[in-house]
Amino acid sequence: MTTLRQTSRKNEAEYSLFQQLKPEVMADPYPLYRKMREHEPVHWDPYMASWVVTTYAECVTVLSKYQAARTPTPEHLDAMGRSMCAAAFSPKRMELLRQAIEDSANDLVDKVAASGKMDLIRDFASPFPSVVLATLMGLPVTDCMQLKKWATDVSELIGNFEHNPDRIKQLVTSLEEIRDYLTTMVTVQRSELREGVLTAMLEADVNGVGIPLEDLVANAILMCAGGLEEPGNLIGCGMYSMLQRPEQLTLLREHPEIAATATEELMRFESPTQHTGRLAPEDVALGGKQIRKGQLVTAVVAAANRDPLRFIEPDRLDLQRADNRHLAFGWAAHYCIGAPLARLTGQAAFRVLLSRLPEITLVTTKPEWRGMAALRGIVSLQVEFDAQAATALQGNRLNVQQ
Ligand code: HEM
Repeated sequence: MTTLRQTSRKNEAEYSLFQQLKPEVMADPYPLYRKMREHEPVHWDPYMASWVVTTYAECVTVLSKYQAARTPTPEHLDAMGRSMCAAAFSPKRMELLRQAIEDSANDLVDKVAASGKMDLIRDFASPFPSVVLATLMGLPVTDCMQLKKWATDVSELIGNFEHNPDRIKQLVTSLEEIRDYLTTMVTVQRSELREGVLTAMLEADVNGVGIPLEDLVANAILMCAGGLEEPGNLIGCGMYSMLQRPEQLTLLREHPEIAATATEELMRFESPTQHTGRLAPEDVALGGKQIRKGQLVTAVVAAANRDPLRFIEPDRLDLQRADNRHLAFGWAAHYCIGAPLARLTGQAAFRVLLSRLPEITLVTTKPEWRGMAALRGIVSLQVEFDAQAATALQGNRLNVQQ
């Protein structure tokens, strides 16, 4: 006989975010999010030891009013984050990077054009953001695949709630190696004053004080983790979403001028960061629940981005969606500092892939998803395209500076 306690445990498990680790949920977490939102938008998840929030309005409250659930950030680090942000992602620097980004995307497509097939992740989505970030930071582009490897491990440390004990040693080694590498590069840049974000950070001063080396390196690591992983996931998931809906793909191919709107929609539809944590700053009421000071609260931004109270037909991919203030880059104080770069990278990727690869179609029909709950990405995505036409388009590069 099933006891009351067993039934309630079964219910708790059914609505737990931990369900995400099941392969079928990993492949499509949105039915789970819908179920959670309809059951209890603010839900205590005993398996996560966290409140889990799945509605747009409540996620906005959590992201704007609750404390970031990271190591407490000293005040000057916050200030530093902002000044770094201004220096690193200023419109002037972004404008300078625009053509370099477009050229890097074209270079990667050149390498595969004649073959008529590619693994979109291995051959494009994975290396592309590394080249872009290395250029931005003033690091040698030849180091970018090593940087990517470290950043993947660091993201696994940050982005997973169930760590594989066999991997911990490797992850910590990667963290130490990227720290040592960036410390060396900062020292090199200090003596050479090379152009790039590391130099801009070195020159930044916060309240008349320079940024301590340790803080500078810690933030550079954060930038690498965010900047190398997430844009690749946006490109991989975005291409997969469009390839499954050829009419949307054709729309963007025929109207490259909608690349900015389309990129926002692809971010809303398949958000690379699925959720992020906060701590309740005091005893608070949220969505009819009483949350105690210091309790962990997980804002599932990917669920909020499919909330029907905020978005019309949220489960439909509409590359021309006009009202699209999604939460994929977060909200308020911790809003993604790399958003301007991520947008440029995504727009260039979609524009170049679609204009340069005619007749692109999926070979992989059921992709393997990366086993990380908080970060959504595809491991491999094989596609085919018309090799002859792709080769003929080789010289057909867009000069975005014009
Ligand atoms: C599609 C690409 C990207 C997505 C979806 C994304 C997503 C996010 C989200 C959701 C947050 C807020 C996390 C929170 O509130 O807890 C965030 C913060 C952050 N992102 Fe990104 N990001 C992307 C690209 C980048 C890039 C290109 C960089 C750097 C080059 C970057 C660096 C950072 C940093 C340093 C933070 C921490 C900001 C803070 O805590 O104040 N991200 N990102």
